[in-house]
Amino acid sequence: MPQRTITCPTTFATSRQEIAGVSIADLAKQYGTPTYVYDMSVIEQRVADLAGFGTIRYAQKACSNIAILDRLRKLGVVVDAVSAGEIGRAMRAGYVPGSHPADIVYTADVFDKAALDLIVQHNIPVNIGSPDMINQLGEVAPGRNITLRINPGFGHGHSQKTNTGGPQSKHGIWHEQVDDCLRRADRYGLIVSGVHMHIGSGTDLEHLSQVCAAMESTCLSIGRTVTTISAGGGLPVPYRPEQAYVDIDRYYEIWNATRNRLQDAFGHEIHMEIEPGRYLVAESGFLVAEIRAVKQMGQNTFYLLDAGFNDLARPILYGSHHPISVCRRDGDTQISEHPVVVGGPLCESGDIFTQEEGGFVARRNLPRANVGDYLVLEVAGAYGFVMASNYNSKFRPAEVLIEGGVPKLVRRRETLDDLLGPEMIPS
Ligand code: LLP
Repeated sequence: MPQRTITCPTTFATSRQEIAGVSIADLAKQYGTPTYVYDMSVIEQRVADLAGFGTIRYAQKACSNIAILDRLRKLGVVVDAVSAGEIGRAMRAGYVPGSHPADIVYTADVFDKAALDLIVQHNIPVNIGSPDMINQLGEVAPGRNITLRINPGFGHGHSQKTNTGGPQSKHGIWHEQVDDCLRRADRYGLIVSGVHMHIGSGTDLEHLSQVCAAMESTCLSIGRTVTTISAGGGLPVPYRPEQAYVDIDRYYEIWNATRNRLQDAFGHEIHMEIEPGRYLVAESGFLVAEIRAVKQMGQNTFYLLDAGFNDLARPILYGSHHPISVCRRDGDTQISEHPVVVGGPLCESGDIFTQEEGGFVARRNLPRANVGDYLVLEVAGAYGFVMASNYNSKFRPAEVLIEGGVPKLVRRRETLDDLLGPEMIPS
């Protein structure tokens, strides 16, 4: 692959008036707040970065709006699904189940009935995350190809909660149980055609590279039925100015060398996949909110927004840092800054966007602002809307996709009917 420098679209500026060339005030007027806004050009750039990998399989759990899935499909990206709902989304977005190579692969540590039914009906390949799944699939769909998701015994993530390897993780098949899985598969005529490893989300090159050696030895122990390897996801993006991208070219070289060694050992072609979620969509996403109260609590100034952890849960869950900018209604971008705490509307004291892991409230230098000004939580495209909830009976926000400078509504704001639709009062 040619050497390239990945350009960071995030400016880390604390003032901003536009997103992808569209005025934030206009977006807020047209769609209301809070609203997730995605810049399609950033997603396109990120897909292009990974073009050297044979197949890009998008981990749609990061941002699964069907409009984004549709656009990714048109860019040649296939998808991973972890539930019946994600299989349904992929199909609604035009992915064809049962195609070869597979448009949709189911990767999980358990089947529920709804997912297993769809898998059987549509011949969707399964990446097995627990030995019991082999028996459960074999009972209803013997003779298929399967891939094994292996926990290599180590892992790493941006938070302990996103580390998916090692003995404390529930994910994947323990690396010492491969033989047992092969015996289970034999019982049902299932053929292990691939190996997958995903050690965590938001990790680094050093940890990602360690996976290659584990992949090679696992594939060699399984033998010549293996035709596919998947490097999983986990590629980080910068949420802070001092953070850098992984060297994608180096990462590709390390994986390609592993693939080549396996090809030499087996004497047949090995297909390589990468399975990013965050990397493709994080930087495309902005959560636009309105400042609804500015208040002083002792030494702390609070900006309270109409968006809370019901809209963006990453700070309360992991102490995650998101760049924040202010868009003043008067268009002034030269306003002095002061340290503020940014929080949401929920009846819960943890509803703070500027917090460290452990829930410690932190302050951020932001421009002075008033009620009615807008505040933008940036790098919010991955694990943003998808982790939104209706806590406090809040309506989930709208989603807007900007393409070629044109904003398009891709999910309307929820209403009271959406909220109460499934509920009933028995007589
Ligand atoms: N493949 C598998 C099997 C996964 O479990 C995941 C993420 C991915 C790929 C994609 O990982 P990524 O490339 O996005 O790092 N909610 C957390 C992240 C949870 C990740 C879950 N699995 C967050 O907001 O940081």
